[in-house]
Amino acid sequence: MKHEQLIDLVEQLTLPEKIGQLQQLTGDFFIDRETAITGPMKEYGLDENLLHQAGSVLGLSGAADLIEVQKNYIEKSRLGIPLLFMADIIHGYRTIFPIPLGLACSWNPELVEKTAQVAAKESAVSGLHVTFSPMVDLVRDPRWGRVMESTGEDPYLNQLYGKAFVNGYQGKDLTNDHERIAACVKHFAGYGAPEGGREYNTVDISEWEFRDFYLPAYAEAIQAGSKLVMTAFNILEGIPATANKKLMRDILRKELKFNGVLISDWAAIKELIPHGVAADEAEAAELAIEAGVDIEMMTFCYHHFLQELVEEGLIEQGLIDEAVLRILELKNDLGLFENPYRGADEQKEAEVVYSEEHQQIALKAAEESIVLLKNNGSLPLKIEDKIAVIGPVANSTDLLGNWSWKGDRSETQTLTSALSIYYPHLLEAQGCGVLDGSSTQLEEALEIAKNADKIILALGESADMVGEGASVTNLQLPECQLNLLNEISKLNKTIVLVLINGRPLDLSDVSEKCDAILEAWFPGSKGAEAVANILVGNTVPQGKLTMSFPRNIGQIPVYYNAFNTGRPTELLGTEGRYISKYVDVPNTPLFPFGFGLSYTSFDYQDLQLSSKEMKMENGEITASVTIRNTGNHDGVETIQWYIRDLVGKVVRPVKELKGFEKIHLKKNESKQITFTITTDQLTYIHSDFKKTIEPGEFILMVGGDSENILQERLSLVL
Ligand code: BGC
Repeated sequence: MKHEQLIDLVEQLTLPEKIGQLQQLTGDFFIDRETAITGPMKEYGLDENLLHQAGSVLGLSGAADLIEVQKNYIEKSRLGIPLLFMADIIHGYRTIFPIPLGLACSWNPELVEKTAQVAAKESAVSGLHVTFSPMVDLVRDPRWGRVMESTGEDPYLNQLYGKAFVNGYQGKDLTNDHERIAACVKHFAGYGAPEGGREYNTVDISEWEFRDFYLPAYAEAIQAGSKLVMTAFNILEGIPATANKKLMRDILRKELKFNGVLISDWAAIKELIPHGVAADEAEAAELAIEAGVDIEMMTFCYHHFLQELVEEGLIEQGLIDEAVLRILELKNDLGLFENPYRGADEQKEAEVVYSEEHQQIALKAAEESIVLLKNNGSLPLKIEDKIAVIGPVANSTDLLGNWSWKGDRSETQTLTSALSIYYPHLLEAQGCGVLDGSSTQLEEALEIAKNADKIILALGESADMVGEGASVTNLQLPECQLNLLNEISKLNKTIVLVLINGRPLDLSDVSEKCDAILEAWFPGSKGAEAVANILVGNTVPQGKLTMSFPRNIGQIPVYYNAFNTGRPTELLGTEGRYISKYVDVPNTPLFPFGFGLSYTSFDYQDLQLSSKEMKMENGEITASVTIRNTGNHDGVETIQWYIRDLVGKVVRPVKELKGFEKIHLKKNESKQITFTITTDQLTYIHSDFKKTIEPGEFILMVGGDSENILQERLSLVL
């Protein structure tokens, strides 16, 4: 449909029909009309008309059902406007990939794009049009449960991943490519910085910090063309995002030039009341529509009050028209006016969803996401090793993680079953549950452990211990699991810890008791196979952390791109009192950003700059470094380039990631890697919030993580 036709269509709609378009309902309203009327409609006090006026549906999928719902809806829709089907497809539809925090550790945006493409394809053939992904909220606090959905603490990586997800979901031609779906960047904005890591809590960051660290990933994903943006639950500068005109009108619409659909998060409009900025639902509706929120998800402030607000002259009808037009534009961009069923196709659904090809991509993604945190030589396992697999997640299919709605655990292998292919006689015991255990379980595990040389101890979290609403104040493994580890460690056997979890944990004590630690995250549908492949050495680990692991909870937030302070340990050492440090633990995290071991080792030598001076105007120099594989395996290394601006008008982080490259190196092979530094990489956000660049001294750093680095100085000159 042409733009003028859409405008025309908006004009033909009555005011209630327009307001209907702004309403999003869950699938249970649509699947069976009779139960909807006696169930959710009654519960929310809604009038039946809303069923054929609501513009979009959340959380329903399956080609057959969606085709039927769409057909019934269009038949009743006066002007034949199709429904939009949306859902949270966060790390895969039914083929489940590692959780986003795991995927990020692959340092492979292309692979992440591929996973998003697969997720889009499976969703599209199952009838979906929109996914509420990517979540690009920068996070520095692992207490926050949604850390599992983020790609970590770095603005640059978050930008690359945000863009990769959007491109993977949307492709290049959303209108005609019906194996793609629209993306929704969330949660705009600053949702990843709740005080104390407590879910939905106050966010209070300066605009300068917001613009320097948090905004870039949203901006990049929007720039990549994301069709939707979702509002955040939190406040920013004292105003809930969902009512925040400066954020939504000035920053999102004007500055970032976003002209797609802005959807509220679940109930976020009504929540303006408990936030304390709206007295009632009418005022909540007024504030949200004025901020430019187009769709209200699952509360009914718009439905109940927008008409009255227009009739009383409290809001301009134009605000509603503009929101409706954006929603119709989205429907049009998805090609729904021409084909309201779009990709929904039962036969394709049967062929495509969880296909062998998709499972192979899930396996690759899991293998690249897993991070080896410690290894004293006990990994890879040897085929003659007598192993026991012990722990609450050893024989569990809870490997998919939160937000894996359509993932089917019955199709997922357990770590024990995946390892038994290599070790048909492996010993196994549960030892304890995830949260509690009995002395019988413990004793049995100890007996089993005594008969093995190497113990694969599989510990971690269950899916519901992370994700939305799962903030914690303790980052250690549950007590029963620590107890199991303690008791097993007394046997003086080799302990290889495999962690299945969704957040950086406090592993200080754990680490001392283990010979090797493999952080597998929630690795997805093919996670068990991936872990087994790495343990036996069929695959060499290559993941690198995108979020620091603290030494203890009191260190939080601990992140690599911090400011120096006036009394840094770097300058003053750690002796003496009046230094920016803790007296009980070092400032550094236990495992830093960018860290991850391989079965081989890499040596960095000979960092050279093409020139030590770079011109301010269109300057460009190259840096080169030689990496050698000095160990006994072929391997993959991620070379990380960091920059520090030594003197700015505002303070600059001690390191900022500016680029990276992932390379394969055979045993003894070496490669020279070059990196181009452009003036753009030397800019920063000044206190006037403008991008600034000034002549001065910089340090260029390169290494395999954010702490082990080679460095060279360079000057930016006029
Ligand atoms: C979450 C969103 C999600 C939405 C719909 C909310 O509670 O914050 O991220 O997209 O629910 O399921």
